[in-house]
Amino acid sequence: MSSRSALAAKAIEVLRENDRGGYTVPTKGLYPFQWNWDSCFTALGQSHYDMDRAWTEVETLFAHQWADGMVPHMVFHEPAPTYFPGPDVWGTGRTPPTSGITQLPIAGFAIHQLFRRNPDAGRARPLLDGLDRWHGWFYRTRDPGRTGLVAVVHPWESRDNTIDWDEAFERVPTDGVMPYERNDLKHADPATRPTKAQYDRYLWLVQHFRSLGWDSTLTHDASPFQVVDPGFNAILIRSCLETAALADALDAPEIAARHRNWAEQGLVALDGLWSDRHGQYLPFDRVGGRLSESPSIGGLIPVFAPIPAPRAAALASTIGSMGTEVRYLVPSHAPSDPRFDLKRYWRGPVWLVCNYMIADGLARAGEVAMAERLTADSLRLIEQSGFAEYYDPRDGTPLGGGRFSWTAAMVLEFLEPGLEAGA
Ligand code: SER
Repeated sequence: MSSRSALAAKAIEVLRENDRGGYTVPTKGLYPFQWNWDSCFTALGQSHYDMDRAWTEVETLFAHQWADGMVPHMVFHEPAPTYFPGPDVWGTGRTPPTSGITQLPIAGFAIHQLFRRNPDAGRARPLLDGLDRWHGWFYRTRDPGRTGLVAVVHPWESRDNTIDWDEAFERVPTDGVMPYERNDLKHADPATRPTKAQYDRYLWLVQHFRSLGWDSTLTHDASPFQVVDPGFNAILIRSCLETAALADALDAPEIAARHRNWAEQGLVALDGLWSDRHGQYLPFDRVGGRLSESPSIGGLIPVFAPIPAPRAAALASTIGSMGTEVRYLVPSHAPSDPRFDLKRYWRGPVWLVCNYMIADGLARAGEVAMAERLTADSLRLIEQSGFAEYYDPRDGTPLGGGRFSWTAAMVLEFLEPGLEAGA
């Protein structure tokens, strides 16, 4: 067996081990349920060895879509005594319980990829309707001012503890937060996880939204935390374009037109987040009314959307200069920033799903050499350190949870990119 096929076999073993039937856990112990964007990346991996199982993964996620269109960030398929915050804290009143917030909308991209690999209109059509309702929900409830860009209202909707929202997050109070015990610290080194001060604020927001009955028509304006994350928006824009292409294939012209319109407006507005000084996009603090000086991976992921070629070239060069400071690309925050933290979750470590989206975007923009470097770095990390949740960008130390589903899924995508060639 070649070393590449041995690596693929190990990745499939991880995905099978985390398969709970109709859904896959990100990793056992730390994340014992279904997470939204994890499942979508996982489905891409599953499509390499079991197409039927890949469709089921996203169908299970969309089976828990809310009546208002939101697809929640977590679905508690089983009782959760060992996870915090569990269903009783969220109090969304659903059966089975779900969280009350959403997560990065990669599903439109993933579902269209599944369809390109296996054009099963019968399975894709209900998912197309689900995507249409979810994306509509975003633009209705998370962009009430019709700016073209949507905001996250909770850090768990995007990159939990990124430096991007340190300033905006200060605005979230902590008084009245219920006493709680964290379970994540029993499964991962506390030095690689968010701090207690951050968890207090995460919980305050959950309690606040719960007191509003999880009514999405209220939460955006009522949240002291509203951040326009360029990476999140780029993922939504790319997903809208992929959804439009899927709608074309399924003969749904109204859905296609609506999605192209959202994407066009999003791309124009996204350009307003560009920073020449940083050579990348920056997050926008909507409550504070200004860009945050935080050069993170959130400002590099926009290459996943069809941004103008000079922007893509500038991002490739920004990533290239980071490559002189760390051994493995792409760190989740600029190493030159004094706030950069090698090991702490989204404040420095490398995440393979981000490498995947950035490499895909760079390759599409013609920045092939940098795309290849990202793929090579990703595979070196796996060979050296196994299927970790994330990695130290200087020496490749595995961090967070182990035997991680989406990391395994991305390895299959990196090893067999030809799978899409038939589309
Ligand atoms: N990522 C958060 C956690 O650690 C919430 O989804 O559980």
